[in-house]
Amino acid sequence: MSQDIQKRVAELSAELHHHIYLYHVRNEPVITDAEYDRLFHELQELEARHPECARADSPTQRVGSDLSGDFPKLRHPAPILSLSNAFDEGDLVNWEERNRRMLPASAQLQYVLQPKLDGLAIVISYEEGVLVRAATRGNGEFGDDVTANVKTIRSVPLRIPVNPERGAAPGRLVVRGEILFHKEAFLELNREQEAQGLPAYVNARNTASGSLKQKDSRETAKRKLTAYIYAIVDDDGVDLGSEWEALHFLRDMGFNVITEAALCVDLAEVARRLPDWEARRDDLPFEIDGMVLKVNSFSQASELGAVGKDPRGAIAYKFPAEEASTRLVGLTIGVGRTGKVTPTAQLEPVFIGGVTVSNASLHNYEQVAALDIRQGDRVIVKRSGDVIPYVIGPVVGARDGSESAIRPPETCPFCGTKLIQPAGAVDWFCPNPKCPERVMRTLEFFVSRGAMDIEGMGPQTIAALIEDGLIEDEADIFILEAEPLLALEGFAEKKVENLLASIAAAKTRSFAQVLTSLGIDGIGSTVAGLLTDNFSSMQDLLNAATSIQAASESFAQTAEPLLADEPRDDAAISKIIFRLRHPLTELVPRYLDATDLGDRLARLLKPLPSSADHLGALENALGVLVAASRPLHSIEGLGPVLVENIVAWFTDDHNQRVLAKMLEAGVNMRAEEKALSGSGLAGQTFVLTGAMSVPRGEIKALVEANGGKVTGSVSKKTSYVVAGDAPGSKVDKAVKNKVPVISEEALRALIAL
Ligand code: IVH
Repeated sequence: MSQDIQKRVAELSAELHHHIYLYHVRNEPVITDAEYDRLFHELQELEARHPECARADSPTQRVGSDLSGDFPKLRHPAPILSLSNAFDEGDLVNWEERNRRMLPASAQLQYVLQPKLDGLAIVISYEEGVLVRAATRGNGEFGDDVTANVKTIRSVPLRIPVNPERGAAPGRLVVRGEILFHKEAFLELNREQEAQGLPAYVNARNTASGSLKQKDSRETAKRKLTAYIYAIVDDDGVDLGSEWEALHFLRDMGFNVITEAALCVDLAEVARRLPDWEARRDDLPFEIDGMVLKVNSFSQASELGAVGKDPRGAIAYKFPAEEASTRLVGLTIGVGRTGKVTPTAQLEPVFIGGVTVSNASLHNYEQVAALDIRQGDRVIVKRSGDVIPYVIGPVVGARDGSESAIRPPETCPFCGTKLIQPAGAVDWFCPNPKCPERVMRTLEFFVSRGAMDIEGMGPQTIAALIEDGLIEDEADIFILEAEPLLALEGFAEKKVENLLASIAAAKTRSFAQVLTSLGIDGIGSTVAGLLTDNFSSMQDLLNAATSIQAASESFAQTAEPLLADEPRDDAAISKIIFRLRHPLTELVPRYLDATDLGDRLARLLKPLPSSADHLGALENALGVLVAASRPLHSIEGLGPVLVENIVAWFTDDHNQRVLAKMLEAGVNMRAEEKALSGSGLAGQTFVLTGAMSVPRGEIKALVEANGGKVTGSVSKKTSYVVAGDAPGSKVDKAVKNKVPVISEEALRALIAL
């Protein structure tokens, strides 16, 4: 028996040592953190039950370290301990049992239960209320000195108490907490990456760690990190008896404390609450990987002491892992309505967080290349909440040489058209608007709820209609007739009648809804609303897009001679050339309100050797482009990329034909006439800035109801700038352009005239 155990302990030790080496030295882990935890836990359990088998060099005797060479080291005032793990209720019961044996029989054990944040630990010191030092956990004894970087995090007070009415600063206070990205901030960071054509970050915790460990704190400041504080490490002049009191004290000092902590009267209450927490996990603003359970009373906790690197008075209850590793056995390729090609990984089925996963998203081929994911690789897959499971990355160390590179296909798997990758895009596209897969996806979206909402037109019906040649595009839906429909299998009279009735009803959908249904990249219902507020018909929008396209083409021609010999190594010149190549997104937004276009262009182009000869022509062409773009670019909330999408969509031949057919079939393509309550502001254009007595949207509606127009940016054509409290730079622009600035009251007086 004991021999078997000894053998298993040796096996586990060797295996863990190997994984520690792969992770920390080679930077090529072959198992997930959760898989590591499981092995570690098994070893810990065996060693606890059979101390005679524990070896001095056991991995359980080692404290993990995040130290790096880039920072000076700080010694922590007390060891920064770690937590042992529990994976089920049984582990918790055993833990309490062991603790009870070390405490007087009468001891009442209460617990503080709080989320275990999936970030990186930080230790922050205050002297006389002033933040003086901040260090990472490091090896538990020394940490990296990241004081300057931590000071950039807004949720970390630089002075405590933040509100002097809540108490006095202790002489010394060292707190411990966790630094992380809120889920929303991480998504936003990735949206920015995507907008710049850079690969997405995959793992929020590693990205938070990388962000904190920047050599230049200005880089850290650009990241929206958040810090939560959950414990006191050391202090001078604070007298508290429990974790619960400590949490309240920390909150009073002005720290960001997890508000969801709970004081539980016994372990049974803890156990009752755990399932709720697991269910709420995905709704929390931050990632958690379990719950931390601490003995509430400080005196009990200190009586319990620590084993190795873990205090006995606290334990981490880990939720089932959301990550697992498995083999990538194949790939399926999807084509969406925009033509975007998406690779999906076929996996050897793997059980993650209670569900068997057999395929997972790979995002796009750029990402596949950036992460170097290969066919046949062992990959790490993440599944959390409602999100489609996705591949985090390959387990490089598990390769045996049989893996093969994954490349985007050259042609569309559905129609055989050669795929394209637009300049600067990460995705590949099937450019054929008649591709059967694209048509199917376009139609599915077009008829869906929230779009044209045509009842009775599910995917099967659409497929049948395409199959029989009754529809080829969205517009064909509106000229469907009863007779050919009745000839279809399964289409009885009643069904056809209902379908035709819902198609007829769809013809009267609002202009904004029709626009949303077209599925233009980035144009959901909100943006569609902005467009229909500013354009009264589809034709107006089409005209605007066509003018922009024509002006873009003529700008491109004018700029052509300047783009000829792009030097490879001059960053400044490359930047100018980039701007000239993408005038709609790079130049127009900057020059929208410029009164000195010529001067500014001359300044921009100066480093280009031959620019002087072309300046006049370019100024002209840019002027025309800016003027053509103004109706779209000056809509507040409509960014340059969306404008580009709109122009591309409306100037596409196929789309224009579909629109013309829809118009002819009687689909509504005009904005509703807005009821005017007066016309006193007719012909006048207003720009609103600053806080008003009511939301700005209401003021906008008021102006429009009286025949006026509201635009987003100040130009010479602006009649008035209406300035509320704390107005922005628009007032300066108004003064510069000699546009009168008036108050909200003055605006109301104008309307009353
Ligand atoms: S208390 C002495 N509370 O989880 C124990 N830790 O696996 C002090 N963690 O190193 C830790 N959320 O970095 C505590 N609410 C929380 C936590 C938390 C995350 C981290 C902490 C620790 C690790 C242990």
